[in-house]
Amino acid sequence: MRTVAVVALKGGSGKTTIATHLALAAHLRGYDTLVADIDPQLSAQNVLQARTQPGPACIASSGPKLMSAQFAAQGLGKDLLIIDTPAGLLEDVSEAIVLADYVVMVVRPTLIDISGLVRTLLMVRKLGKPSTVVVNQAPVPRESIEPPLVKRALRGLAHMQAPLAPVMVRSRTVYQIALETGRSAEEMSDAAAAKDIADLWAFIAVELWGAEDEADEIAEA
Ligand SMILES: Nc1ncnc2c1ncn2[C@@H]1O[C@H](COP(=O)(O)OP(=O)(O)O)[C@@H](O)[C@H]1O
Ligand SMILES: [Mg+2]
Repeated sequence: MRTVAVVALKGGSGKTTIATHLALAAHLRGYDTLVADIDPQLSAQNVLQARTQPGPACIASSGPKLMSAQFAAQGLGKDLLIIDTPAGLLEDVSEAIVLADYVVMVVRPTLIDISGLVRTLLMVRKLGKPSTVVVNQAPVPRESIEPPLVKRALRGLAHMQAPLAPVMVRSRTVYQIALETGRSAEEMSDAAAAKDIADLWAFIAVELWGAEDEADEIAEA
């Protein structure tokens, strides 16, 4: 089993959107997936409970309870545990990072979000955790030209030597609409959003299992 923590100390960057989309992407590809929601607001749990089709399991947890949840998930033979974390609660977020095999940091392409990333980045580096930074809510390029906001954000992240994911998740209303019914953008009719999520999953799956193992898992599913 692999454990992924989705973190950002700032609220509203899209942790729950990315955590639930990764969990749904894994589920749709046959991975037995559990989400541990350690945000007291329980947004991930609410999203996944709204789903009518079979989907990833979700439990409400907390930083201190996370380790036993991880053992239980392992015992149940889960393939993947995704932890959705709260903004600000540094201790709980630290526990998620410590227990994770891989950390996904989520940032909007704004200077406030990017400067808010520094502490998380330092913690992840200190613990030597493999990680990636996903730029979320990036404005859609016009005629293939990246908006200045995005260019500036990418420069800032490069300056910080942040491990940038090769895929950005664009700002699209389909994510909000899909999650109202616990669905992934991949299950909706917005091909561009579906591609962002499929590409992000493909990248993270290789990060977690390596190229060959990942291919085997999909073949078995
Ligand atoms: N890529 C996106 N495009 C459009 N809206 C988004 C996107 N990602 C997140 N949002 C919206 O931004 C708000 C905050 O997202 P959420 O995932 O709840 O963030 P967090 O869990 O970090 O607080 C929600 O209303 C969500 O629907
Ligand atoms: Mg959230």
